[in-house]
Amino acid sequence: MHNFNSGPSILPRDVLLEAAEAIYNFNNIGLSILEIGHRTEWFKNVIDESRLLVKELLNLDDQFEVLFLHGGATTQFMQVPMNFLSPGKNAAYCVNGIWGKKAITEAKLFGNVNTACSSADQNFTYIPKNLEIPAGSVYLHITSNNTVEGTQWQELPQTNVPLVADMSSDIFSRKRDFAACSLIYAGAQKNAGIAGTTIVIIRKDFLKNKNENVPAILDYQNHILADSLLNTPPVFAIYVSLLTLQWIKKEGGIDEMEKRSLERADFFYDALDRLPLFVPIVKKEDRSRMNAVFTIDDKKLEKKFLDVCSENGLIGIKGHRSIGGLRVSMYNALPMESLELLVKIMEQFSQQYTS
Ligand SMILES: Cc1ncc(COP(=O)(O)O)c(C=O)c1O
Repeated sequence: MHNFNSGPSILPRDVLLEAAEAIYNFNNIGLSILEIGHRTEWFKNVIDESRLLVKELLNLDDQFEVLFLHGGATTQFMQVPMNFLSPGKNAAYCVNGIWGKKAITEAKLFGNVNTACSSADQNFTYIPKNLEIPAGSVYLHITSNNTVEGTQWQELPQTNVPLVADMSSDIFSRKRDFAACSLIYAGAQKNAGIAGTTIVIIRKDFLKNKNENVPAILDYQNHILADSLLNTPPVFAIYVSLLTLQWIKKEGGIDEMEKRSLERADFFYDALDRLPLFVPIVKKEDRSRMNAVFTIDDKKLEKKFLDVCSENGLIGIKGHRSIGGLRVSMYNALPMESLELLVKIMEQFSQQYTS
């Protein structure tokens, strides 16, 4: 099978094998990773190494804290404003897709929300270049990669207010100035493991702006004080993140992940631009290296193309249910051979059906 799912998505084979082994016998201790207490030395080593590896791979120093939390990135849509926004205060949000829109809906429960930029006028097919950030905003929120719409910020926006970034679908895939962010969050189930845990990275000085009286389990400071072990964490999901982070490091770190993702994206978009049957949607300069979104004008042919893909073991190419069309996700673990086969099928299909 060739796995183009958007998340949960493809994992490195070695990670799956090691995770499977650990379900029976974790680190040769005679117990499963699923059976050991989260406060044992065994698990503490897992979470400590995971937190350190996040910092090492993203080139972050001790000004940053790393947490592995529950609740998916969706919980962060609420937890960020609950900790930093309040009535009478303003936060600025970039509206570039469905995930950013969901984040805004949650933020409005806590304070004033201003739109710093929006690409709604062209169906979220580009990333706006001009931002309006009201002075005194407590933070600016962006979604660095729009998983559904297939756009990606190639550079983080320059701003003098704290930057909060949802990096769920492109963390660990490209070099960025991660230290320019005050808070980064990412559900693990794309480039960093499996569903069940969310990586949250916080700059310590940003915490000085944190609200009082946040419910204990949602207060970032409490999680930091407890070394990310405030309550029982999703132990297996964190363990798979550790294996994935170790794999990224072993393969050559973020530099190598970026090199591979550029190769994959160049190869795929080249085919998309060559084959007239397939219609790219996103403005070229804003195309995502992780999720390529496109269509076939004739919807019956689009359906047929999906059938041909599944007959050939190519899965996960149907677009998100909210916008339809086609989507090819090219996360870190996707081998080039999968894309080569997909492009071959696209070429054959194109030859057969282009009039
Ligand atoms: C960019 C982005 N943000 C947030 C989410 C929501 O993540 P979760 O389902 O982990 O809450 C997703 C899910 O795909 C996503 O791609």
